[in-house]
Amino acid sequence: MNVAYTVKEVREQVKAWKKEGLSVGLVPTMGYLHEGHASLMKKAVEENDRVVASVFVNPTQFGPTEDLESYPRDFDKDCALCESIGVNLVFHPEPEEMYAPDFCTWVDMDVLSKTLCGKSRPIHFRGVCTVVSKLFNIVTPDRAYFGQKDAQQLAIIRRMVRDLNMDIEIVGCPIVREEDGLAKSSRNTYLNEEERAAALILSKAVFLGQKMVADGETDTAVIKKAMIEKVESEPLAKIDYVEIVDGLSMQPVDKIEGSILAAMAVYIGKTRLIDNFLIE
Ligand code: PAF
Repeated sequence: MNVAYTVKEVREQVKAWKKEGLSVGLVPTMGYLHEGHASLMKKAVEENDRVVASVFVNPTQFGPTEDLESYPRDFDKDCALCESIGVNLVFHPEPEEMYAPDFCTWVDMDVLSKTLCGKSRPIHFRGVCTVVSKLFNIVTPDRAYFGQKDAQQLAIIRRMVRDLNMDIEIVGCPIVREEDGLAKSSRNTYLNEEERAAALILSKAVFLGQKMVADGETDTAVIKKAMIEKVESEPLAKIDYVEIVDGLSMQPVDKIEGSILAAMAVYIGKTRLIDNFLIE
């Protein structure tokens, strides 16, 4: 496995692969990799001749009061995991390599980025769309892999690829959970013991909502109310949002029909966690 720190190195490597007619998969990450990332990388290795994983804590998707500085990092451990799965190249640029001092071009999106996480993180998806576009331009992958845990991000990237005619297949992969239900996240590392126990309220609310849908409930207000009450039963939990939206437009819906996303963001202490389920 090789590690590249510059755009130039990645381009040279990918060019050589393409000359041989090899397909290329990309797994964009911010590092501190866990089993959720591992599932993306494994799928990418299965479906492509060569796989690039990027490890880059992208400053432009963090708001001024968010956790950019404290975001967990362990590049050596990340590399060991990538290598064990069969990733061919890890791209690990410095922020200066990705953003020139006078950088001023953005990829942004209306509608889908204004609801859910976009409400409390107003510049987040502009940063995500911009860095993902840059990674797509640098790596020129045939396929790129994203987790369903960031369901709004996945919907936004699919829409960006469609709207901007990017010739890349976007592959979404299911949420990976701890044995007790907590969705895997690099941010789980912020939780102390008491908070870790309290964080289970997110997956409990997700499972409750899923069961109500399975039992035939179609009124989203009823499902949302039950999920909110569930989360509020945990004293350490503070809701950012619990919403039920159309799976493509990310706009609230009244009835469960077609493709639906039920999503939440909840603070456990200072840590903001997300979870969701899809109804197809
Ligand atoms: O999901 C993430 O880890 C990030 O938002 C991504 C897609 C790597 C862009 O920085």
